[in-house]
Amino acid sequence: MKTIPVRLGQRSYPIILASSYRQLPQWLRRLDLPRQGWIVSHRSLLARYGRDVLGPLTRAGWSLQPIAIPESESSKSLRIAERILAMMARQAMMRAPLLMAFGGGVVGDVTGFVAAVFRRGIPYVQIPTTLLGQVDSAIGGKVAVDLPQGKNLIGAFYQPRLVYNNSRILSTLPMRQRRSGLAEIIKYGVIADPILFAMLERSVSACLALEFRAVQLMVARSCAIKARVVSADERETGDARAALNFGHTLGHALEAATAFRRWTHGEAIAIGMCAASELSVAAGRLAPADSLRIRRLIEAVGLPTHATGVSREAVWRALRYDKKFIRGRPRWVLPTRIGRVVVTEDVPEGFAKQVVHRYIS
Ligand SMILES: NC(=O)c1ccc[n+]([C@@H]2O[C@H](COP(=O)([O-])OP(=O)(O)OC[C@H]3O[C@@H](n4cnc5c(N)ncnc54)[C@H](O)[C@@H]3O)[C@@H](O)[C@H]2O)c1
Repeated sequence: MKTIPVRLGQRSYPIILASSYRQLPQWLRRLDLPRQGWIVSHRSLLARYGRDVLGPLTRAGWSLQPIAIPESESSKSLRIAERILAMMARQAMMRAPLLMAFGGGVVGDVTGFVAAVFRRGIPYVQIPTTLLGQVDSAIGGKVAVDLPQGKNLIGAFYQPRLVYNNSRILSTLPMRQRRSGLAEIIKYGVIADPILFAMLERSVSACLALEFRAVQLMVARSCAIKARVVSADERETGDARAALNFGHTLGHALEAATAFRRWTHGEAIAIGMCAASELSVAAGRLAPADSLRIRRLIEAVGLPTHATGVSREAVWRALRYDKKFIRGRPRWVLPTRIGRVVVTEDVPEGFAKQVVHRYIS
């Protein structure tokens, strides 16, 4: 078992890298977390893993009521958040409840949002079950729901008290979700870790097969980067946390323009990473060979590199609603080499459109 700290003063918390849920009660006890509350998840996950996660907790004296939400991005909505809140409010006799998110980024984001607003904030823990959740969405306290106009438009920074990753649970993850998680890991390689990037290039099939050593390495290095960035720039007031948005400027717009149904989050940002790399080449900031390496790795993982069947106008409209649209300009994260990026609004719109439109047809 490995522990990676997120250092935020009084709001610090550990990320636990484990291979079972046996140690979970120990951690909850150590952090003095409430013994009653709710576990938000999907019906399928609760059927498959409910006993594994809740068994050790129940034996140790925890009582968590399950709340199941539908398996789709549309669960990140005010409607579902309200449904969860209403269920919680009906059992208001719980004096100091705990909320647990058991699922991927969708469960994590909406549960964190609910935890942030219920009685002006209750403690919550993240037990991510997808690769994307374990390396990215469960860490850092960005909690949100979507609006039809754009992703994550209603939300907060609200840190969990614990992130507990069990690598074994990833073995049942469908291939599409594995690829989607790998997109975020490629992102970490490009923004901060050329060794991780090279490791991915060398062992794509081991990574897709989620072989034990590959998972350990990918998850540990990715979590360490995310923990470091969040510790340095919790609220994205500087460029450090904004760098994590590599691929997201276009990625989020593609998701919004297609009502969040067409691509997974990872697929959309894979296209976004290809476009941002090419934009960086066009701006004279990145060597064409590095852009090619990024695109080839994305292709090798089986992720899309182009968006087809979506209107360019709809994508550009969605981009304007994004939080990364600042002072009338989109904010781009452009790689300058593998392992380094710059964050800039200094890309003329016409120029950006010219390059980005090559990635949308
Ligand atoms: N908060 C953040 O900082 C942050 C960062 C990145 C992404 N996100 C958000 O995360 C969301 C995407 O999350 P995701 O990619 O984890 O998808 P997801 O939460 O939609 O999960 C994908 C599917 O995988 C299934 N699943 C989960 N764990 C499983 C397992 N162990 N075995 C089998 N099936 C399993 C789920 O039931 C679901 O159907 C997006 O909404 C995105 O905006 C948030």
